[in-house]
Amino acid sequence: GRLLTFKRAPLSLTDTASYRYEHDGGLLVEDGIIAAVGDYAEVKAQAPDDVAEIDHRPHLILPGLIDAHLHFPQMQVIASYAGSLLEWLNTYTFHEELRFVDTDHATRIAGHFYDELLRHGTTTAAAYCSVHKTSADAYFTEAMKRGMCMVGGKVMMDRNAPQGLLDTPQMAYDETRAVIADWHGKGRNHVAITPRFAITSTPEQMQAAQALAKEFPDLHIQTHLSENLDEIAFTCELYPKAKDYTDIYAHYGLLGAKTLLGHAIHLSDRETDVLSETGSVAVHCPTSNLFIGSGLFPLNAIRRRKKPVRVGVATDIGGGSSYSMLRTMDEAYKIQQILGERLNPLDSFHLMTRGNAEALSLVDRIGTLEVGTDADLVVLNAAATPAMALRMETVTTLPEELFLLQTMGDDRAVAETYVRGTAMKGGLIGS
Ligand code: GUN
Ligand code: FE
Repeated sequence: GRLLTFKRAPLSLTDTASYRYEHDGGLLVEDGIIAAVGDYAEVKAQAPDDVAEIDHRPHLILPGLIDAHLHFPQMQVIASYAGSLLEWLNTYTFHEELRFVDTDHATRIAGHFYDELLRHGTTTAAAYCSVHKTSADAYFTEAMKRGMCMVGGKVMMDRNAPQGLLDTPQMAYDETRAVIADWHGKGRNHVAITPRFAITSTPEQMQAAQALAKEFPDLHIQTHLSENLDEIAFTCELYPKAKDYTDIYAHYGLLGAKTLLGHAIHLSDRETDVLSETGSVAVHCPTSNLFIGSGLFPLNAIRRRKKPVRVGVATDIGGGSSYSMLRTMDEAYKIQQILGERLNPLDSFHLMTRGNAEALSLVDRIGTLEVGTDADLVVLNAAATPAMALRMETVTTLPEELFLLQTMGDDRAVAETYVRGTAMKGGLIGS
């Protein structure tokens, strides 16, 4: 098939040095690892005589898509009708997450969660579980069944939610430690310290998160930041001594190169500087921000500052409305259009592959097709529907093809998804 990988963020549509494209490419996988990549004839020459070959011509093969922020217990929250974030959380989301106290329910939904990701070409994601430790057990158990590289954490929350969704500072600490002991480093699992957001954690629980971050400095930390104006106002009331929302997380030592901050839409210059200085990642969730009406994330502006902020891109299921990273980047594109900015398709495809791998600090394993990395791949067909096929007739360049995939594509454009070299688009539950 045709191979596309990125070496760095593209500066423009004509920045051909930012990516590698093989029109007649080959990829040799041995034990789930990429053993050779490049021109088909050259790769073929290195392959054993009895190698099994899969022909994906004329489709495009890329590193598997990556989703940097979503919620596995919110599959049945998608399409909930609310006017704003806090209404959406209180009316629908918290009640739904209560159900994950039941291990059978959590296991069933986790299975569907991974199968849905794979159907949409996503091979790695960073997700929130519910407050219940058993939800994290289900999450990582099902990830291992599929051999997927996943980041996830038991949510820490001890106030401002229904009783059945609350832990305590001590429980959050103990259970997060238990999740780390049970799952971190097993298979391809990465446990994240996951205080939901400042509204649902007391200062004492923030201290527990800080203690965990100190004890386990290599772990990811994920939380939400400055998504909605009412949320920001309430947060600042709860933490009156903090300079602003960002300062709360800074105060508890939760910012840094492995910190993923969902949304981060409404930030002051001071806050943006702090994210830049600490190397923290702002994760853009365009379908969610539009669906919940949270605001327009200044993706380009935040990246071209003198002190730029690292960014990731994500679906934020169930605030988000699509599992597809193609649909997600289409909405990101439209947000930039409204803001008077350009988002070119090379940039978008970099963000959903290598860019997100860098955001998750996993680029040594995923997001590229380098020899020695994990063979997580997506195969995309830009002529997957009649309307796409018709439009493809007039496409002549690679950026045009990518833009068509982003603008019209969804799960139907995913011809196959490979996890460590195994075809997985059909998932496990269906088979
Ligand atoms: N802020 C705190 N929790 C959530 C959540 O589950 N979804 C979104 N979109 N924002 C949040
Ligand atoms: Fe979220």
